[in-house]
Amino acid sequence: MPLQLNDHGLLECRAFVAGRWREGVRTFAVINPATNEEIARVPEMTPADVRSAIDAAYLAQKAWGSLSSKERGAILLRWQALMLENAEDLARILTAEMGKPLAEARGEIVYGASFIQWFAEEARRAYGDVIPPPQSDRRIIVLKQPVGVVGSITPWNFPNAMIARKVGPALASGCTFVSRPSEKTPLSALAMAVLAERAGIPEGVLSFVTGTDAEGLGLELCTNPKVRKVTFTGSTEVGRILWRQCAHDIKKLSLELGGNAPFIVFDDADIDKAVEGALIAKYRNSGQTCVCANRIYVQRGILDAFAPKFAAASAALKVGDGMAPGTAIGPLVDAQGLAKVEDHVEDALVKGARLLTGGRRSSLGGTFYEPTVLVDVKSGMKILAEETFGPVAPIVVFDSIDEVIALANDTEFGLASYFYTRDLRRTWKVAEALECGIIGINTGLISTAEAPFGGTKSSGIGREGSKYGLDDYMETKYLCMDIGV
Ligand code: SIN
Repeated sequence: MPLQLNDHGLLECRAFVAGRWREGVRTFAVINPATNEEIARVPEMTPADVRSAIDAAYLAQKAWGSLSSKERGAILLRWQALMLENAEDLARILTAEMGKPLAEARGEIVYGASFIQWFAEEARRAYGDVIPPPQSDRRIIVLKQPVGVVGSITPWNFPNAMIARKVGPALASGCTFVSRPSEKTPLSALAMAVLAERAGIPEGVLSFVTGTDAEGLGLELCTNPKVRKVTFTGSTEVGRILWRQCAHDIKKLSLELGGNAPFIVFDDADIDKAVEGALIAKYRNSGQTCVCANRIYVQRGILDAFAPKFAAASAALKVGDGMAPGTAIGPLVDAQGLAKVEDHVEDALVKGARLLTGGRRSSLGGTFYEPTVLVDVKSGMKILAEETFGPVAPIVVFDSIDEVIALANDTEFGLASYFYTRDLRRTWKVAEALECGIIGINTGLISTAEAPFGGTKSSGIGREGSKYGLDDYMETKYLCMDIGV
């Protein structure tokens, strides 16, 4: 069925390279995971196309970088306003190509636009410094300058917001930007490009290079010496490869990688609030989110109060096409994602876990999977060690604070954690002990443009959003002046 949009110009099927809309000699299909139907065909671009996007970005950077931050901010604010004006269409394109419920897609567009706004404003506060010198004839001044050309590689799970979170600080600080969106979700990126052009972002400042050759396109971004920074959201495995590829030029890097978030419910928690938070932290985007609760730890005394309530609420979530009213759980993005979820559940069941609800594909077929809650989950099961990226909640019981801190930290990842308690001493102890970059305390929703998003350990380097986010796109240069007195 054709996609219903108010502005069909937003369903752009050409790549946007070096300020020009480009058809491809070859194209690839964009598939709706809910229906398995082809939505559009998009150009299969090559490393040579990435190169021409980089050349244009390199040329455009000087002029873009010499605009005042207020001038760049004004253009970015026009882009943000256009995103919000066209939010419904952008959300429909997003749901069609990646499956998330339309209400969540609408939320993602607003979330994405908030990064453009935040950084448009924040760039005006990219302060340098004046440092008291050690000698009376010296003056020390610190400048902040744009890094240069930025290469971006982003995933399918947040096809708008993950780009917005990178392009916002890049453009605001005076960098230019070459984006390689996921081959599963190029249409959301191209719709952003249409609006960027309408907002007046100058030619060459921003390119979107579509294609399925993830390795070839990524290699060009990481090894082209004109690119001074690479920013990536995706798996830890790919992050390691990109880091190695960027090593030769010592490029600046931001990596937002895998997670394995613990969600801890202490015995003094407000159970209803914890259930509500767990539903959000677990099932947002059908569990396909780096910060999703991957392991749920419940203190023994409240297991019987928490687990049945959470299982009943999980079972009540409506599985379906993201476009259908009331859908809470859309399809998994592809067969590979489904196979991983099935493998984790099977492994847990074979090793002694017990199902409270779900545990199988939905009767809708395709890649739909029922929200699933498991109990009697123990160390040694894959589901606790790896990121499941699906609507499966494994519950582990624990007795003491020290035990659960050790369990929560027993992972190579360190992106997000969540815990529920009403005790202040416990709050501080746990918050300081958890090894991760983000903690939700009595809340399951932690993402906002105002706060620094990013991980520790194998979950990455750098922070996105907040007052810290701009620094990742700027160099610090210091001037040492002998004033001759
Ligand atoms: C992610 O999955 O990496 C992004 C999630 C978010 O921004 O909340």
